[in-house]
Amino acid sequence: MDGAEQISRAAGIIKQGGVVAFPTETVYGLGTNAFNEKSVARVFEVKKRPSFDPLIVHIDNENWLTELVHRIPEKAKILIDAFWPGPLSIVLPKRSKVPDIVTAGLPGVALRMPSNLVALTLIREAGVPLAAPSANPFGAISPTLASHVKEQLGEDIDMILDGGPCSVGIESTVISFLESEPVLLRAGGAELEEIQKLIGKVKVASAMEHISHSPGRCERHYSPSTPLTRLSDPKYIPTELRAGLISVAPIEKKNLPPNIVSVEILSGSGDLREAACNLFAAMRRLDSSDLEVIYSLPLSNQGLGLAINDRLSRAAVR
Ligand code: TXA
Ligand code: MG
Repeated sequence: MDGAEQISRAAGIIKQGGVVAFPTETVYGLGTNAFNEKSVARVFEVKKRPSFDPLIVHIDNENWLTELVHRIPEKAKILIDAFWPGPLSIVLPKRSKVPDIVTAGLPGVALRMPSNLVALTLIREAGVPLAAPSANPFGAISPTLASHVKEQLGEDIDMILDGGPCSVGIESTVISFLESEPVLLRAGGAELEEIQKLIGKVKVASAMEHISHSPGRCERHYSPSTPLTRLSDPKYIPTELRAGLISVAPIEKKNLPPNIVSVEILSGSGDLREAACNLFAAMRRLDSSDLEVIYSLPLSNQGLGLAINDRLSRAAVR
């Protein structure tokens, strides 16, 4: 089967109430018909995801907006125009057409139009919005390759649509418009600085607020099974334990202590986009390298650094 046939087959499975892993520019998603409560329930089950954690609804064109949400504030419209299709999810007041199971009973639905062509074609051919979380077991590292999905969920789902590596590699930024001012619920592929240039200050929800606004934001997440420790000073890399090291930029390997047996440089030029794209695959490689601990070097919160730091700090929670 060629690519187009694969997409048609996947769309057919969605129409029949099935569950399909599909590529997006951020990470692979585990998609199903957002209007089919039964198949949405199966997504929660396959992922072992708690039912209080809502799913993002993926659309292929803006006509869906009037069917899915009540109103679109001006600032949300500006972000939609600027970032869609792309790695930005926007939470808006949902219409009753969106089943409560999708939003975990919350009044808002998170919407996103991915830029990945396979994803867009799949949604168009399925003819319905796709409710889709990242295609990993709850709490584990998000998949950026079809093979990652196969390893973790392959047995339990109806099909994996292989679209190659994800180009952004880190999940979408999530912004809520349910309150009078926009609130950042998750840092991600769309940079906060770029968003604030267009709509002014965006409130960054505190950890507690995160949990009530966006229950998926439990602290521990994106976790390798090897413990991960974030270092606050690159000068002091612990010399104990058989360890791996994650660094965004190149480092002098000859200065590293001998206990550091694997090193993952996320970008040869220190580029944060490239680093974000490589982060999850690097975490997976280190996790399968028989290490006692993974250390990560500090990184500024600028640009995609905010999202990378968020993922590393939550991977570090035991
Ligand atoms: O890039 C992405 O966003 C990927 C791809 C597949 O689109 N999806 C993804 O989904 O990362 P997931 O389920 O792993 O993370 C979605 C996040 C969770 O933190 C969830 O709590 C939040 O978005 N979220 C989803 N719907 C929400 C809603 N209605 N209100 C508040 N937060 C919501
Ligand atoms: Mg996820």
